[in-house]
Amino acid sequence: MQFSKFGEKFTKNSGILQLMDDLGNALNSEQPINMLGGGNPARIDKVNQTYWSVFKSLAEGDMGSMAIENIGNYSTPQGDAKFIAALVDFFNRHYDWGLTTDNIALTNGSQNAFFYLFNLFGGQFDDTKQGSIDKKILLPLAPEYVGYADAHVDGQHFIAVLPSIEFVQHQGEDGFFKYRVDFDTLENLAELHNGEIGAICCSRPTNPTGNVLTDDEMARLEAIAKRFDIPLIIDNAYGMPFPNIIYSQATLNWNEQIILCFSLSKIGLPGVRTGIVVANPQVVKAISSLNAIVNLAPTRFGAAIATPLLQDDRLKDLSDNHIRPFYQGQAKLAVQLLKQELGDLPSPYNNVMKIHKPEGAIFLWVWFKDLPITTVELYARLKAKGTLIIPSEHFFVGVDTDNFKHAHECIRLSIAQDDETLKKGIATIGEVVRAVYAKQ
Ligand SMILES: Cc1ncc(COP(=O)(O)O)c(C=O)c1O
Repeated sequence: MQFSKFGEKFTKNSGILQLMDDLGNALNSEQPINMLGGGNPARIDKVNQTYWSVFKSLAEGDMGSMAIENIGNYSTPQGDAKFIAALVDFFNRHYDWGLTTDNIALTNGSQNAFFYLFNLFGGQFDDTKQGSIDKKILLPLAPEYVGYADAHVDGQHFIAVLPSIEFVQHQGEDGFFKYRVDFDTLENLAELHNGEIGAICCSRPTNPTGNVLTDDEMARLEAIAKRFDIPLIIDNAYGMPFPNIIYSQATLNWNEQIILCFSLSKIGLPGVRTGIVVANPQVVKAISSLNAIVNLAPTRFGAAIATPLLQDDRLKDLSDNHIRPFYQGQAKLAVQLLKQELGDLPSPYNNVMKIHKPEGAIFLWVWFKDLPITTVELYARLKAKGTLIIPSEHFFVGVDTDNFKHAHECIRLSIAQDDETLKKGIATIGEVVRAVYAKQ
């Protein structure tokens, strides 16, 4: 059987598909695995109890009719109307954005939204002068979320800007760095490709690094988006107000230039596949049209669970008082363990390990400076010892990493696991990384 070009592109064996298969197989294997590799959220008792109680009340009692409405009927392609109304009310109550129901569309997870958005704003455009023009999505700060990489229906249409690396302290301690947007390069690129950039996109907090772009960086990105009259897409999967896994000072803005993407996944409900897009009515209409063709209508189950939790602010309370503190605690523990294992690598390799300042999301990003092997090789050695991480090169979407050593020297660790898994996994990382430097 032969597939179309589209089929060829979407079925080819990418590195990341292989990696995701590895992670899935590891979860199903008999052998004990220290799973520091995936993007699954943590199971937090208090949070799950709340979902369970809503779930039970949907199945019985006075909300029974809502459950039947939700599973017994399609919504419109825009998404579940009650949930959209609850979201409008929630965002206006907390942020005063003046939204109406024309500003929100739902998708089957935010991954689904990025597929739409990257194909709406990147790829071939009709142009009266040139006939056709190839537009790119500009990623202002590489590394970025690996899930963006293969989203275009034909080819890859990204340009990314490498980070400036600043050595910083974290809670009074050395051994940390923070990526900052290199605005000189970004502005030059934007000028050079004037008319060839369809949108700017960033995740905030960022997967994989846990970086949170500062308010000042966001304001500058928004100004560039305005200047070139293109949307600024903000991937808020880990951001405020839910799941609010963000520890640095940051504010969240929305206006018609911005497309803000939310998800119910990192509040602990990845299986309900619910993404939320807040945008101007033209974009919301476009997403609804795409939903009609691709899905008929988005799933309603997440909507049924989240609607009452938005109406009485329980979701905000869970995020502020249970979800964020859980991850903040795990980030602190993981930093302690890493420093214990590798903070004192013997001379001449002293301080080879640097950790990206943990500012949010569910990961730590660790840099092994001048590592004698690539982290793809390190991944294989750790996997052989039962610990899974993700090597850095996959996250440099839109970057030619051949001449950028740093892109082969970092790893992403999930901190969503229990203390025991973190301890065992980080102990293995310590042992393997020490051996790699010692053999040089
Ligand atoms: C930054 C970021 N954006 C989007 C997604 C997609 O999430 P979902 O489709 O589950 O909403 C993920 C998942 O890990 C993510 O880390």
